[in-house]
Amino acid sequence: MIHLFVCTAQKTEVGKDVARALKIELKKQDLKSVVRKGEKHKTRVQLSNCLDQCKHCKKGAGAALIVYPEGVWYGDVKPKDAADIVREHFGENHPVKRLLLEE
Ligand code: FES
Repeated sequence: MIHLFVCTAQKTEVGKDVARALKIELKKQDLKSVVRKGEKHKTRVQLSNCLDQCKHCKKGAGAALIVYPEGVWYGDVKPKDAADIVREHFGENHPVKRLLLEE
């Protein structure tokens, strides 16, 4: 299982909207399961409390999220970014550089 933990601790609903958009895109792009290193994994979007990346979350217009167990962080993610994250990260197997956070 690959989890996408999306922070929903903002004052707005952006985290929930991002999570919803990610779920829709995973379905739309037929990536509810992906193959990594020859093994099939389900992808699952989950809501999370604060992930301690508030500079790229609560204090901006988007949400922070982490892909687990890969340990890839994205920040300032808006619902319109969901399609790129799903296509590039899960479909093409490379991170979306413009949204990447340093660990
Ligand atoms: S409020 Fe989202 S990471 Fe802290």
